[in-house]
Amino acid sequence: MKENPLLTSLSLPFPALTRAQCRDELSAIGRKLLRNAERYGDMFPSACTTENRYALKENNDWTNGFWTGMQAIAWEFSGEAAYLDTVKRNVASFRARLDAHHVLDHHDIGFLYSLSAVAYWKLTDDSAVKSLILAAADVLIRRFHTDAGFIQAWGKLSDPEEYRLIIDSLINLPLLHVAANISGEHHYREVAERHYQNVIDNIFREDGSTFHTFYFDPASGEPAYGKTFQGFSDQSCWARGQAWAILGIPLNWSASGKIQHLERWLQACSYFFRHLPADGVPAWDLALNDIDGTPKDSSALAIAICGLLEAHKHLPDEHYDRIASQLLQTLMVQASAKDDDACDGLLKHGVYAWALGKGIDECNLWGDYFYMEALYRLYQPQWSGYWI
Ligand code: GLY
Repeated sequence: MKENPLLTSLSLPFPALTRAQCRDELSAIGRKLLRNAERYGDMFPSACTTENRYALKENNDWTNGFWTGMQAIAWEFSGEAAYLDTVKRNVASFRARLDAHHVLDHHDIGFLYSLSAVAYWKLTDDSAVKSLILAAADVLIRRFHTDAGFIQAWGKLSDPEEYRLIIDSLINLPLLHVAANISGEHHYREVAERHYQNVIDNIFREDGSTFHTFYFDPASGEPAYGKTFQGFSDQSCWARGQAWAILGIPLNWSASGKIQHLERWLQACSYFFRHLPADGVPAWDLALNDIDGTPKDSSALAIAICGLLEAHKHLPDEHYDRIASQLLQTLMVQASAKDDDACDGLLKHGVYAWALGKGIDECNLWGDYFYMEALYRLYQPQWSGYWI
């Protein structure tokens, strides 16, 4: 194996987190989640906060699963029935959303249904939810372009302006592997594997950085060019996109049972970690790290930490754990909202979409979720999570 860039070049400002620290943070988070659940009732929190407060909304965004996933982890951590009750009510809402096909014409079906339906199945072993998992996977594979071999991220399938995949999609693929396992139908896995290969072949630049989105030629199905949507520019590297690759690649190893494209993963990590500033939390776009005052995206770091811990299941090197744990301490010191009762979120200082002026230096649901997932992964190393 090539020299591991993580082990040779990373100098981190904080010591590793202890298990007791994880426990205390998860306990405080649990209390905040209970308070929030009381306020939200059957509604869901908005994708990001405004001045650290989540607005209430119905189940109609790509982010609703994160709220359910946090409740699921809180239940596993504490055994308190209130959390499982919220998961159960949320799953009913996700079923109604699927039946009505409400705001599901996009690829983020894995973000929604892995953290709700698959999580509930794993928590309760209730086989009635399997039909929901399969129906969700069917919605996702309808977006697959058979000739070009990719799942279209957004928009109408006939729209040439939308004939592209995006890097975030890697997290949606495990749902297809779960569907293949449940049904015994190979075509779910085949779609996942062809899409995965297309992401790996096209989204990376030579230096290990990534495009956010990648277009194909609608006439020939051939790979065409990379372009950003949420990053600073087409040639820069959106921090969260890079983090989606750092988590998405090992999640796909776990889902497929094969370590595919380890070199790409190492390059992706190396690029991300080389571009961390001294305080350890990345700017929202890695091209902007040296510019003072650039808002950070704490959620990108939380996602990348989960990626290191997922990869560690496959790579027998204890340093992954240690580095993940030090990075989590970094995140806790600089962004934890546990002591701020005026803040609804768990993790401060994220950026949702800079160009749209959305959620800049605010909490967001995926930052909260992956912060909690990272804490629980370290607290309970045998935990298998909800993605696979
Ligand atoms: N998947 C959308 C985002 O990361 O903002």
